[in-house]
Amino acid sequence: MKKKRVLSGIQPSGLMTIGNYIGAIRQFVDMQHEYDSYFMVVDMHAITVPQDPEKLREQTESLAAVYLACGIDPEKATLFLQSQVPAHAMLGWMMTTLTYMGELERMTQFKDKSAGKESIGTGLFVYPSLMAADILLYDSDLVPVGDDQTQHLELTRDLANRFNGRFGDTFVVPEGHYTEVGARIMSLLDGTKKMSKSDPNPGAFISLLDEPDVIRKKFSRATTDSGREIVFDRANKPEVSNLLEIYSVFSGKTIKELEKQYEGQGYGAFKKELAEAVVEVLEPIQTRYRDIRASGELQTMLKRGAEKASAVADATLRRAMERMGFVLP
Ligand code: TYM
Repeated sequence: MKKKRVLSGIQPSGLMTIGNYIGAIRQFVDMQHEYDSYFMVVDMHAITVPQDPEKLREQTESLAAVYLACGIDPEKATLFLQSQVPAHAMLGWMMTTLTYMGELERMTQFKDKSAGKESIGTGLFVYPSLMAADILLYDSDLVPVGDDQTQHLELTRDLANRFNGRFGDTFVVPEGHYTEVGARIMSLLDGTKKMSKSDPNPGAFISLLDEPDVIRKKFSRATTDSGREIVFDRANKPEVSNLLEIYSVFSGKTIKELEKQYEGQGYGAFKKELAEAVVEVLEPIQTRYRDIRASGELQTMLKRGAEKASAVADATLRRAMERMGFVLP
């Protein structure tokens, strides 16, 4: 039987956080063994807000290396840069012409990112149409993401159905795939805000490349709810609950086990031991990351990834262009 296909992407808009790790990349690493997998660095999405060219290039390469350091195996999964597969831009445009203004106006990511800004790039507005193209180009069955992407995924499904309805069966209608624990990791400083790599305050997130001492310091300064008990209660203790989720993922213990372990204890020891659990997982990732960057093999590997991805994407694009009425060469 043909393997099901999985695709996902991460923006190189800053250093990857433990939120991205928990919500996204950890799933990618598990899924690559079972599925025909495509993972990308979505550099074309990153430019929907202003980026410094040198910084963007560095962050793009860094993110590709982080993917590998976390355990993406280029023999099992296809890893590539979105901008090296031109079919994304073309299908992105085709999808934009099928998307209604009202659908884009409803997107909460757009509302959040444009709030309070004087000039808003059109790219930020049509971002979800490009994301739909990313997914549909690969006939993806499953899209592993954190729960902040649910709305984008719903739009992707609507666009796939709309295209199929108007032009005949062309695209696979994909499903989102979410982790049980940690689909939305919150800021360390504010339990009501999502942890984000573009947060202006670096104390709000742990980057995968933060030095162990920085990680310890950030956890020791993490906001905790009033009261002393270490229990999972998202409504009344959002900050402690968030730390428990992080701890559970990094230690492999269930939240129930952790609650038991810390019964009757204060926040001090809990935060210290949580930091150690995170350091223990991130240190070997950081060592592998440095080795990959030093090896000088990244470019060749990404080129191979782009070739493999293009072969799939170009065939789908051709099929879609034909259906839509383009004259093919
Ligand atoms: P991005 O770059 O913001 O985030 C990458 C992935 O990490 C997840 N994530 C989180 N999960 C849990 N807790 C958090 N605090 C947290 N922050 C981020 C995101 O849900 C995402 O899965 N639009 C996408 C990128 C994209 C994409 C695609 C994804 C472009 N094209 C095609 C899948 C398929 C984004 O901005 O992700």
